[in-house]
Amino acid sequence: MSDIVLCKREKEPIILGIESSCDETAAAVIRGRKLLSDEIISSAPTQALYGGVVPEIASRAHTDAIDEVVDRAISHAGIKKEDLGAVAVTYGAGLLGALLVGLSFAKGLAYGLEIPLIGVDHIRGHLAAAYLEDEDLKPPFVTLLASGGHTAILFAKTETEFEVLGSTLDDAAGEAFDKVARVLSLPYPGGPQVEALAREGKPTVPLPVMLKGEGGYHFSYSGLKTAVINYVHNKEQKREEWSRADVACSFQHAALDILVKKTAEAARETGVGTVTAGGGVIANGYLREALTEMCAREGLKLVLPAKKHCTDNAAMIASEGLLRYRAGLFSPLSLNAEAYIPLS
Ligand SMILES: Nc1ncnc2c1ncn2[C@@H]1O[C@H](COP(=O)(O)OP(=O)(O)OP(=O)(O)O)[C@@H](O)[C@H]1O
Ligand SMILES: [Mg+2]
Repeated sequence: MSDIVLCKREKEPIILGIESSCDETAAAVIRGRKLLSDEIISSAPTQALYGGVVPEIASRAHTDAIDEVVDRAISHAGIKKEDLGAVAVTYGAGLLGALLVGLSFAKGLAYGLEIPLIGVDHIRGHLAAAYLEDEDLKPPFVTLLASGGHTAILFAKTETEFEVLGSTLDDAAGEAFDKVARVLSLPYPGGPQVEALAREGKPTVPLPVMLKGEGGYHFSYSGLKTAVINYVHNKEQKREEWSRADVACSFQHAALDILVKKTAEAARETGVGTVTAGGGVIANGYLREALTEMCAREGLKLVLPAKKHCTDNAAMIASEGLLRYRAGLFSPLSLNAEAYIPLS
């Protein structure tokens, strides 16, 4: 295969985004920052039978879905393949077999159409989802990243450069939601289930306060998760009555209030006027309201991705693709899938 395909860069290119890092096969088309189509075929219902993602099942499901999902994205966008100006695709981090399905497909398409390939780091995709919501969004800003594998506060210096102000020292927020969901016998994926149950409860269960205001912008979810597990086991052993909804609600407060507090501190310290967010946990309604209230109080502009663009999707990959296209950051066709990419 040849090297990087260079092109005359258009101002409002049409970009196809492809995402296949976990259990969603997704494709989306944007023209500039305008979303033209947004398609997902998810294997989550099958994965739910196993209580989590089985990599081999995910890879097979991607192979079955990729043709259809890309065809749908192109036809729903009202364009032809030949109109595409670039293909952006997640090359990591994620399940290698799953990533390879999307990456190989994207390479074939880019090579065949002689258009640039843009390899996208999945996490940068989560961060770029906010750009789809606001045509005028420009760095610098502070971003709260909270997903299944990451929890961090970042300072976006430019559209392609950010600085990590702090991150989790152990579990990610989404991971903690999933583990607490299991303890509460809720099905996978746990986050939305815990949120729904929390709505019926009160925050009355005493849980530890994370890092007690110390630790800069770092987080630690392992102690909180263990406290929930111990509380439930203790109650069950003693055969005492306890409320699943109150546990869910108390956990949700403990897990999310700290994110809002530290985001506010980061905005104050960096002096930015704008806050954005990204990642699956940002779909949480309680967190969205708390961020909205905090930003109103602090006089900050808040740009939240639509809920469907918080969990894995291809629109965010196309959006990050546009930022990289504008910066001329194209990828060679020799680009390989990466299971792990450090947050940097
Ligand atoms: N409403 C919600 N409330 C809380 N958590 C949620 C909600 N919706 C989704 N989540 C959590 O978000 C996570 C999924 O988000 P995402 O798709 O960004 O994670 P991932 O792709 O597995 O991890 P990463 O993006 O870090 O590689 C899961 O842990 C899920 O429980
Ligand atoms: Mg993700």
